[in-house]
Amino acid sequence: MERLQKILQKAGVASRRKAEDLIKAGRVKVNGEVVTVLGSKADFSDEIMVDNKKIKSENKVYYLLYKPEGYVSTTDDQYNRLTVVDLIPVEEKVFPIGRLDYNTSGALILTNDGDFANALMHPKFKLEKQYTVKVSGLVRKETSKLICRGVDLGNFKTQPAKIFDVKYDDKKENTTLTIVITEGKYHQVKRMFAKFDHDVLRLKRDRYGCVDLKGLNKGDYRRLKIHEVKKLWNLSENG
Ligand code: URA
Repeated sequence: MERLQKILQKAGVASRRKAEDLIKAGRVKVNGEVVTVLGSKADFSDEIMVDNKKIKSENKVYYLLYKPEGYVSTTDDQYNRLTVVDLIPVEEKVFPIGRLDYNTSGALILTNDGDFANALMHPKFKLEKQYTVKVSGLVRKETSKLICRGVDLGNFKTQPAKIFDVKYDDKKENTTLTIVITEGKYHQVKRMFAKFDHDVLRLKRDRYGCVDLKGLNKGDYRRLKIHEVKKLWNLSENG
């Protein structure tokens, strides 16, 4: 529930001050009743009319954030750590679709569109997520093959993955590689490598479906283009 003037502002009817004037002048109805009290609350499921015309629901917005390390992927945190929402100071109440760990960086979509978020996170939707991962030790070809075939993580077996661009640092005894997975289970990439005694030292998501980080620096965000939103919707419907 939100203050009526705030709802009118979000719907693009008027500025907050003007919206207050509209309310005081008796020009606003909620579910058929004229409301003149300024503190009144409502939400977008109510039928809200101004001068007997129904207002449009809240604008749906879609952002791509290049999440830096050191932020939690929630809207508020019980330990008062910074959240990804702190990086997107926008009018709409956005939330992240899925999660990146506190120490993971990379592509994260935030929106106020619950249907879109649900569609993208549905398990049947095999959306590709591409990561650059640096792990301890030298990852053997045989290990990569096993990871790509699917790893038994106790409560589930991971879907087939792809690994490429494998680079070894023989001196420091670590490996950097690209992995593409189609799920988003808790700590998934870390657990997949931990199964083979490789600790993840650094993790970055380069791509979420058709959307990558091109042109963004850490901490930057941009609106998704309409064709990107449509493509993600289509992928989810056909996935
Ligand atoms: N896999 C992980 O282990 N962590 C992330 O943040 C994303 C994928």
